[in-house]
Amino acid sequence: MSKIKVGLAEIQSAQKLLAPMLEKTPLQKNTWLSEKYGCEVYLKLENMQPIGAFKIRGATYRISKLTEAEKKKGVVAASAGNHAQGVAWGSAKFGVQATIVMPTNAPLTKVQNTKALGAKVVLVGETFEQAFAEAQRIEKETGAVLVHAYEDADVIAGQGTVGLEIMEQLPGVDAVIVSLGGGGLMTGVATAIKAMKPKVQLIACQASGARSLVESLNQKKIVQGGSAETFADGIKVKVVTETMLSLLSEVIDKAVHTDDEEIAAAVLTLMEKAKTVAEGAGALPLATLDLMHRQDPKQFHGKKVVLVLGGGNIDVNVLSRIIDRGLIRAGRRIRVNVFISDKPGTLNQLTQLIASKGGSILQVIHDRNAPSVGLLETEVELTVETKGPEHSAELVAAIKGQFHRLELLH
Ligand SMILES: Cc1ncc(COP(=O)(O)O)c(C=O)c1O
Repeated sequence: MSKIKVGLAEIQSAQKLLAPMLEKTPLQKNTWLSEKYGCEVYLKLENMQPIGAFKIRGATYRISKLTEAEKKKGVVAASAGNHAQGVAWGSAKFGVQATIVMPTNAPLTKVQNTKALGAKVVLVGETFEQAFAEAQRIEKETGAVLVHAYEDADVIAGQGTVGLEIMEQLPGVDAVIVSLGGGGLMTGVATAIKAMKPKVQLIACQASGARSLVESLNQKKIVQGGSAETFADGIKVKVVTETMLSLLSEVIDKAVHTDDEEIAAAVLTLMEKAKTVAEGAGALPLATLDLMHRQDPKQFHGKKVVLVLGGGNIDVNVLSRIIDRGLIRAGRRIRVNVFISDKPGTLNQLTQLIASKGGSILQVIHDRNAPSVGLLETEVELTVETKGPEHSAELVAAIKGQFHRLELLH
C-alpha cells in the first residue's frame, strides 16, 4: 500500500486552483504522424507552458497549499531542471523564497531560467539523487519545506490536471503515452483518466539508459542499481521507491523503454513535422509510439493516441547535434574520408566532382599527416549536404569511381 493517495477529487481541486494562473495547453492533431502510424495522433503541448514544461502544474499547486508559517520559511527542491523552474515560478507567484539544488551537469538554459525566475540555485552532485540529498540537508538546516519532484500527493494532483485537460479536449481518447522520470506525471494523468474512462490504455515510457522504473513495473518488484545514462536529462532518475511503484502499478497498462537514438530521431521528427521543439523526455512518447508500431503495426489502427509532450527545454548545443546526426541517418548529409593523391589540383578535382553532382560541401578537413595515409596521399574529410539517400549513394559511387579509397563515417 502506498503512503500517498491521490484521487480524481484532488486533481479537480488542483485544476480549479491553477485555472486562473495557467492557460490550457493545446492538444493538436498531427496529420503527418497520423498517416504514418495509421491512427489519430494528438500532441499535448506541455512545452508551451510558461516555463516550457508541465512541471509548473504540480509545483505551483504544492506551493499554494503551504501555510503562512511555511511560506515564510521558504521552499527547497532538487531537480535536473524542469521541476526547478516550476518551483521557482510557483514560489514567485506566492511570494515564497525558493532554493533549488541542481546537479552540476544540469543544462545551462535550465539553470539560467531558474535563476531568472528569482530562485537561488545551488549546483551539487552529478545525479538527481545527489542533488536531492543536499536538498534534504538544507531542509533540516533551514526549516524550508522540501517540494519533492514527484513523490508528493499535491505535486501528483497538479500533474494530473494534464489528464483532465486531455479528457475535456478529446473525450474519445483511446491511448495516452507518457514519459516517466520519478513517475509523478504518469501517476497523476493515469489516475485522472482511469477515473473518468477506465478503458483508456496508459503507456509509460523511459529511456533505455535510465529504465529502473520500467524494469520494476514489468517485474512487479523494485529493481535498483540501474544506470541513469540518457541525453533526456529531465528523466535521469535511478532510484525507484515502493510508493511510486505501487501508485503506478495500479493505473498503468504497459511500460516500455526506448533508446537515445530513437528519442533523438523523435526530437527531429517533431521539429520537422509538428514545428515544435521537444526535449528528450518530451519526444520520448513519440519514440515509444514508433517502437510499438514497429513491433505491431496494427495495435493502434484507427485509434486516438495522445502523446504527452512534457517539455521543450532542450540545450541548443544538444539540439544542433541531434539535427546533424538526424540528417546523416536520414541520408541527407554524408561524412566521408577520401584518400587522394598529394598532387596539386587533386583536391580541386574532388570538390569539382561533388559540385557537378549537385552536392553542397559543408566542411572540408585536409590532413596530410593522418595516421592512415600513405606517403604520397592526403586524407580529405568531407561533410556534404545531399538531396536524400539516393543522391547520397550516387555521390559516394561517383567519388569511388574517380578516387581510389573512400571511407563512410557515421
Ligand atoms: C519533460 C519531462 N517529461 C517527463 C518527466 C517525468 O516526470 P515525472 O518525474 O513526474 O515522472 C519530466 C521530469 O522532470 C520532464 O521534465
